[in-house]
Amino acid sequence: MSFDFRAPKGVNEYVPPRSATYLAARDAFAATARRAGYSYLELPVFEDTALFSRGVGESTDVVSKEMYTFEDRGGRSITLRPEFTVGVLRSVLQHNLHRGELPVKVWATGPAFRYERAQAGRYRQFYQVDLEAIGSEDPAVDVETIALAWDWYRELGLTRLTLNLNSLGCRECRPVYRAALQEFLRGLDLDEDTRARVEINPLRVLDDKRPDVRAQVENAPLVTDYLCGTCKAHHDKVRELLADLAIPWTDEPRLVRGLDYYTRTTFEFDHPLLGSQSGIGGGGRYDGLSEEIGGPSLPGIGFGLGLDRTVLAMEAEEVAATAGTPVGVYGVPLGEEAQRRIFGLVTELRRAGIAADMSYDGKKIKGAMRGADRSGAAYAVILGDRDLIEGAAQVKDMVTGEQEAVPLDRVADVLKEKLG
Ligand code: HAM
Repeated sequence: MSFDFRAPKGVNEYVPPRSATYLAARDAFAATARRAGYSYLELPVFEDTALFSRGVGESTDVVSKEMYTFEDRGGRSITLRPEFTVGVLRSVLQHNLHRGELPVKVWATGPAFRYERAQAGRYRQFYQVDLEAIGSEDPAVDVETIALAWDWYRELGLTRLTLNLNSLGCRECRPVYRAALQEFLRGLDLDEDTRARVEINPLRVLDDKRPDVRAQVENAPLVTDYLCGTCKAHHDKVRELLADLAIPWTDEPRLVRGLDYYTRTTFEFDHPLLGSQSGIGGGGRYDGLSEEIGGPSLPGIGFGLGLDRTVLAMEAEEVAATAGTPVGVYGVPLGEEAQRRIFGLVTELRRAGIAADMSYDGKKIKGAMRGADRSGAAYAVILGDRDLIEGAAQVKDMVTGEQEAVPLDRVADVLKEKLG
């Protein structure tokens, strides 16, 4: 029998050394969120199908074509989350977090699932960090979220990303715009599918990538010309605050998002080196979503940033972590008694917070030193029979190659001093 299992098509998995970049990005986000007062939510990977169809919207590609939906053994319709926002809101409402201090500030991370055509940067299981502020209409909160995403990307070393910004209006002004847009689109020469889309979800037509459609919608009415007074004031304030924080953006009145719940502020981050899948993150307001899923009136804003595309962007800009998980110390025991001593030393160092590893299986010096090299350790501790008799270990500086004999009962302290 031969081993020929492969991960399912379109699934992205992270193995060393690449997984270090993924983890570094995710950990940095945890710190970013914490610094701004966002608490962590650990959510189920699956929810009732109805939550997504109502929350994300029946007319979206995500719900109509891309969900992983199945019946469980109890006959319930279950869907693997295609995104985080509606699950976050479900959880906030279920646990009454919205009855405490507002806005509720939370973040989450993990896999999401969409049955998309798999290609570089587009996966069927992908990963996001998601952050939501629920219960405030203040435009400053919109800008807080945008700034957190922006600063996180910059902290990871990404310098080339761009921020596109739009407002999609509210339940007062959006219908007026939608009607104007539909009237315009009905006059165009479009194929049957696209004409059907004009009736169901006209804003999505603006997002069509085909050149002939693009050319035709060139002069389509723009949502920003239809904003009501309140939405316009909100949008202006967002832009003013972004400018205050020196975050550059592009006004993109054709920016529409793939999910139905958006109102007012919407934004996307793009990375120019990612080819066709350049959308590295996106988000916006969803002031009507809570009511849509049966909750109270509760505004919200947040974003989902694609970890997979962030890792690709870090690689493209050459700021990805290159080493796997380097340790500080690598133990090289030569012989049984030496192994016992080194095992004790390595454990003691780990308990003192120093990353340490060692060679196993009675490896000879050459193989064990290769392990030390590969580990990225700053110091190797070599212990052979003669060293044991003399009561000293050889501590080798892996950068300079210098080696010194250190009394066995001092080795841990010396290394703690060097690395502490
Ligand atoms: P989204 O734009 O659908 O928004 O996804 C956010 C990000 O997830 C995208 O910009 C992209 O980087 C990444 N992404 C989406 N699909 C895939 C895929 N198939 N493969 C790889 N990466 C992907 C949302 O999900 C909203 N829930 C964001 C949000 C939060 N809005 C408000 N709060």
